[in-house]
Amino acid sequence: MIGIIGAMAEEVQGLIQVMENVSVMEKASMTFHKGQLYKQEVVVVRSGIGKVNAAVCAQILIDEFAVETIINTGIAGSLDERIDIGDMVISTDAVHHDMDATIFGDPLGQVPRMDTLYFPADQGLAAKAKGVNEAVNPQIKTFLGRVASGDQFVSSKEKKAVIKESFGPLCVEMEGAAIAHVAYLNHCPYLIVRSISDKADDSATEDYEVFEKKAVANSTTFMRSLIERW
Ligand code: ADE
Repeated sequence: MIGIIGAMAEEVQGLIQVMENVSVMEKASMTFHKGQLYKQEVVVVRSGIGKVNAAVCAQILIDEFAVETIINTGIAGSLDERIDIGDMVISTDAVHHDMDATIFGDPLGQVPRMDTLYFPADQGLAAKAKGVNEAVNPQIKTFLGRVASGDQFVSSKEKKAVIKESFGPLCVEMEGAAIAHVAYLNHCPYLIVRSISDKADDSATEDYEVFEKKAVANSTTFMRSLIERW
């Protein structure tokens, strides 16, 4: 069983539409769609936006559906000049950019008293996902690297610069590290896949409005193809 989380309805509806034998379970104000996607058993769910919603959702997938892998699909802001709107980022690991206990000597992003700053993704799945995206979305570039997450829509060059310098991530979004953190606690493999909708700077809100649909379309094409080739 594979768990697939998108924060927003647009990010999962293109998957739910093509699922078969769907049954629905409601929990924590979320609707879990269990069924088959290209013969593969999956649970697809919209978590809602932000790290708390994403964490609750990931834990339910593990407890109630015994998922073996969690994939987080959606959109993100680019933090790297090589990565354009429409391109795809696949996680090697994830970090909470808004966790700050530096006053106690912890590095920025470190959850105090946890044994890791970066939550590693399933590296085999990441490599496979890159190959799949290069095959099915050849018009865009695919990058493997770090994802930074926080409960903030990043839309200023100052904030973008701090996150870039602190962690060296490829993109920023609002759920991935929470899912990665829950996966880490439960020893569950995970992957984050994000299509770029904006550049997380002063033009981010305008770009987001214009490019969100295109970014969602790229990630839906990718997700369908990944599951088809599972
Ligand atoms: N998701 C898409 N773009 C984003 C941004 N700039 N900051 C946070 N989350 C995002």
